[in-house]
Amino acid sequence: MVVRSVVQGWGAYLPEKILTNDDLSKIVDTTDAWITERTGIRQRHVAAEGEMTSDLATHAARRALERAGIRGDEIDIIVLGTATPDETFPATATRVQERIGADRAWAFDVQAACSGFIYALSVADNFLRLGQGKTALVLGAETFSRILDWTDRATCVLFGDGAGGVVLRAEEGMGTSADRGLLSTHLHSDGRQHDLLYADGGPSLNQVAGVVRMQGREVYRHAVSKLSAVIDEAMVGNNFTVEDVDWLVPHQANKRILDSTRKKLGIPPEKMVVTVDRHANTSAASIPLALSEAASDCRIKRGDLVLMEAMGAGFTWASAALRW
Ligand code: ACO
Repeated sequence: MVVRSVVQGWGAYLPEKILTNDDLSKIVDTTDAWITERTGIRQRHVAAEGEMTSDLATHAARRALERAGIRGDEIDIIVLGTATPDETFPATATRVQERIGADRAWAFDVQAACSGFIYALSVADNFLRLGQGKTALVLGAETFSRILDWTDRATCVLFGDGAGGVVLRAEEGMGTSADRGLLSTHLHSDGRQHDLLYADGGPSLNQVAGVVRMQGREVYRHAVSKLSAVIDEAMVGNNFTVEDVDWLVPHQANKRILDSTRKKLGIPPEKMVVTVDRHANTSAASIPLALSEAASDCRIKRGDLVLMEAMGAGFTWASAALRW
């Protein structure tokens, strides 16, 4: 028998406040037409004053637990992907742990920028498959609005805040690709590309959080080739063809990146989950937000093959294949 990490529940949370492109055009020299045409983004959610990454993550976690039908004290492991923790330390995951009463769990953050959720999924999956726990809560949560330079129109229009996550449960099965659970993860990074995308602050650098600095055009160029390559890896590794794929759930960075990657792979548009128009880029939260939306409205159904991909600062990039 083979142990697999099976999704038992999912949940997401978006802050109440919405910032439209027109709202942004009152802050920086931009237009709704420019943002929509170049990125597909129409609006983003922004955390209220005093509302932190742990607050968003806790809302999402409670919804995921409710959907899974379990209590906080049944969780063994909490892994939270974030690049915008509440504090330098301790891990934001431990704040969530306390608030959902996951007293038995061990909790920590994973920092892989926009790839954070897939990295976190992979880490939790390895714990479960090794038998070091039965139930894991995997979250992605961000408040990127706190690390934006609101005078830089090239970056501040791209990001939003939010949180999402899944409850995974270790289950024994035959281990075929038709059985439910996480089938594979493929992770990569390339530290040589640091200067193309980073936040210009940190505890060890200058004791401030810093703001996002990006060479957008260069990031774009890397994104499409790396994302399609890492999805290819998942397809080849699992012996899948495009026809096997029910859903592509990409990291929601930019509609043009999503479409170019999808076309390169030959996946039809109706099989791709898109939320970037309403959420913008929520970094590590974007995939669990998209997953939660498509699972809640019954697009993603039990037994469907879901492929996820992400790329972010580092660079990091990753894919995951999941039988829902
Ligand atoms: N409104 C109006 N004009 C703008 C804006 C704005 N918000 N931002 C930039 N411009 C201007 C620039 O100043 C420039 O003007 P100029 O020609 O007078 O110098 C012009 O628009 C073109 O700028 P570019 O940066 O070359 O525009 P580009 O077509 O590359 O689009 C964008 C920029 C949307 C950022 C694109 O490069 C992109 O999407 N890159 C990927 C970045 C990304 O998604 N990063 C997220 C993190 S990584 C990830 O998640 C994959």
